[in-house]
Amino acid sequence: MVELKGKKVILGVTGGVAAYKSAELTRLLVKAGASVHVVLTEGGARFVTPVTFQALSGHRVWTDLWDPRMDNNMAHIDLSRDADLIVIAPATADVMAKLANGMCDDLLSTLCLARDCPLMVAPAMNRQMWEHPATRRNVAQLCADGVTLLGPDAGEQACGEVGQGRMLEPDTLYEAICDYFQPKWLAGKTVVMTAGPTFESIDPVRGITNSSSGKMGYALARACAHAGARVVLVSGPVSQPTPFGVERIDVASALQMRDAVMAHVDEADVFIGVAAVADYRPEASAQHKIKKSGEAMTITLVPNPDILAEVAARPNPPFCVGFAAESQSLDTYAEGKRQKKAVPMVVGNLVQDGLGSDENVVVIYDDHGKHPLPRGGKMGLAQRIVEHLSGLLAKHPL
Ligand code: PMT
Repeated sequence: MVELKGKKVILGVTGGVAAYKSAELTRLLVKAGASVHVVLTEGGARFVTPVTFQALSGHRVWTDLWDPRMDNNMAHIDLSRDADLIVIAPATADVMAKLANGMCDDLLSTLCLARDCPLMVAPAMNRQMWEHPATRRNVAQLCADGVTLLGPDAGEQACGEVGQGRMLEPDTLYEAICDYFQPKWLAGKTVVMTAGPTFESIDPVRGITNSSSGKMGYALARACAHAGARVVLVSGPVSQPTPFGVERIDVASALQMRDAVMAHVDEADVFIGVAAVADYRPEASAQHKIKKSGEAMTITLVPNPDILAEVAARPNPPFCVGFAAESQSLDTYAEGKRQKKAVPMVVGNLVQDGLGSDENVVVIYDDHGKHPLPRGGKMGLAQRIVEHLSGLLAKHPL
């Protein structure tokens, strides 16, 4: 997953207990390809040492306005000069007060004032400090100055109290940062999509399913949300976390998946079928557990509705994207499905490449032919699929 390759992020860490979570945020950002430069305030350094951030970021950590390591002694200017984003996490009430009032008595507050890039702050403080009128004024001023506020969350606090003021978790902050960097190709659009397997019940404990993990579908849901879309994700049984900002509807069987899709399809500009929907289901599901008889047993299967074909056949359908999972002759079968289901775009993949794994190899089929994408992580591929989709959508009269 390289979502932030080439991006320079300054991570300001101030003196709150949540500073330890910023170590994980650093790791996530670096893993995604960002170049992370940590600026620790004096208070921040009391909670986590510079060594931790240096080891995780691979860069020297900055703590001092008068740091002589910068040749021109102007760390406050040079550090933020080519930065794409400054994020302060955790942001104490103190640093927010400084920023709201243009004060600059340490390296972090000074480089924020001297910056030429957006600033995000993730507040972390006791609930009474958060609710104090002075903090409310500072928050309002920061928002008016164009600073993006990430959180805070509500819940149990380090001081033992419960309320608003907890810093957002590192993965949520990471999502918000990724979101910020993505082009908003799908702004204003609603995407309804399916992901994961279906489970077709035989009796209360048994059923027919498949090994779709949901990773491809969830990556695509996340990429659509990052691209600015409202995303309604109808999901079969998977253990994936819900992507930030995505509306998730859990279902089990193909019939439930179809009902959930049909309940939302009128809102959709785009429909994407990533789910590995069972083509057949048992004619009837036994009310009680079927007992072993020692004899051969026959289960009659009946066809399930084809959700994608049904959506595509509606009057004024949304822009439909299908997936095709094959084990051979990908071009023939995937393009065949595109024609048969009458959808403008199909993403084809071989099950041996992508089913259950973190990576995939996909080929996009549309009216202009086939467009193979290089092997990659599912998130990176999802972004490429969304980019392709938005290009077609721009030319497609909805
Ligand atoms: O979940 P992962 O482990 O990450 O794996 C990803 C994946 C391999 C499941 C995914 O990339 C993929 O290929 N999904 C489609 C799987 C599939 O069922 O393909 P299909 O060729 O059988 O179906 C074609 C299309 O019709 C699909 O868009 C499918 O969602 C849709 N369909 C199929 C049957 C049915 N009854 N209703 C449908 O809507």
